[in-house]
Amino acid sequence: MKALILVGGFGTRLRPLTLTLPKPLVEFANKPMIQHQVEALAAAGVTNIVLAVNYRPEIMTKALKEYEEMYNVKIDFSVETEPLGTAGPLKLAESILGKDDTPFFVLNSDVICDYPFKQLADFHKAHGEEGTIVVTKVEEPSKYGVVVHKPNHASRIDRFVEKPVEFVGNRINAGIYILNTSVLKRIELRPTSIEQETFPAICKDGQLHSFDLEGFWMDVGQPKDFLSGTCLYLSSLSKRGSKQLTPVSESFVHGGNVLIDPTAKIGKNCRIGPNVTIGPGVVVGNGVRLQRCVLLENSRVKDHAWIKSTIVGWNSSVGKWARLENVTVLGDDVSIGDEIYVNGGSVLPHKSIKANVDSPAIIM
Ligand code: GDD
Ligand code: MG
Repeated sequence: MKALILVGGFGTRLRPLTLTLPKPLVEFANKPMIQHQVEALAAAGVTNIVLAVNYRPEIMTKALKEYEEMYNVKIDFSVETEPLGTAGPLKLAESILGKDDTPFFVLNSDVICDYPFKQLADFHKAHGEEGTIVVTKVEEPSKYGVVVHKPNHASRIDRFVEKPVEFVGNRINAGIYILNTSVLKRIELRPTSIEQETFPAICKDGQLHSFDLEGFWMDVGQPKDFLSGTCLYLSSLSKRGSKQLTPVSESFVHGGNVLIDPTAKIGKNCRIGPNVTIGPGVVVGNGVRLQRCVLLENSRVKDHAWIKSTIVGWNSSVGKWARLENVTVLGDDVSIGDEIYVNGGSVLPHKSIKANVDSPAIIM
């Protein structure tokens, strides 16, 4: 089977992290986002993956070469010279996606869930029409694409409305599709949106179906949602009894759902959890309190720091008795001084913070 992952876009909503790495390479639960997807696609029997890129492909090639071997898949880069939106890239990759007439998967690169690829393919084949999109229920549908069903029809979609201004429903596009190759004929090679143009056209012909997702889902393309998505992912691991989580019998684990890379070092008398991920090479001092936070590779947290609802970027350091909270995000190589308080700060790479940040701000 074949798949295309939409990897373009500048990831501006995930700054300052995306100033250093493209969004798909930012580690989610200690693994680049794209690796979660490649792994799940390969497990479902996909052998050809196209990465539709328009932004810094060279940074991604090395990581993706490794995945080719790890998961035994072929990964091709399809590089746009101008951003082609969410549909144009499918046309650009027509020679691969259309090489045979089996359907292909399409994924947004920033969605996290228990990817239901096998069930989705079975469902799609069973109804036999052009497209199926995975849907999930959310409380705030205005940020997403919303599907409205035909009356008395459980799965056939009547209307697709991207970012509706008025409420039309709460079942939203989860950013995961399976499409027949005939859809490629509907798309022109130009910047064009699958949500604004292609889906409405397929709906009009009554050929678009929805598939309800079970379990958690999150678009982790912005810091607040990245943290919420991490909580959902960790609790899903915990429900499945995953051995990856640090056992609650460990003295410093508080409330469970803690994922720590084996190369990280944790000091004495810490209290960690719930909902914490700690990346490779991280060093946590003594008496540190961590909850609902992400510490990326090689970051350092000094003694008695208190961190909540925060992403600590790669190679950053947090001083003694510092306090970070309220969706604070530190870019790469940021230094937070001793006893400093940061309330919702978004700190650009290589900055040194020596005064309190009392209210949410971007620190350049
Ligand atoms: N190759 C390429 N070229 N990819 C692109 C381009 C482009 O020009 N523009 C955006 N993308 C990629 C993004 O990297 C992302 O993986 C995906 O297309 C969707 O773009 P986002 O910018 O993340 O869109 P969104 O989150 O506002 O909305 C989309 O996702 C929602 C679910 O998270 C839509 O598909 C909504 O309908 C959906 O509900
Ligand atoms: Mg998104």
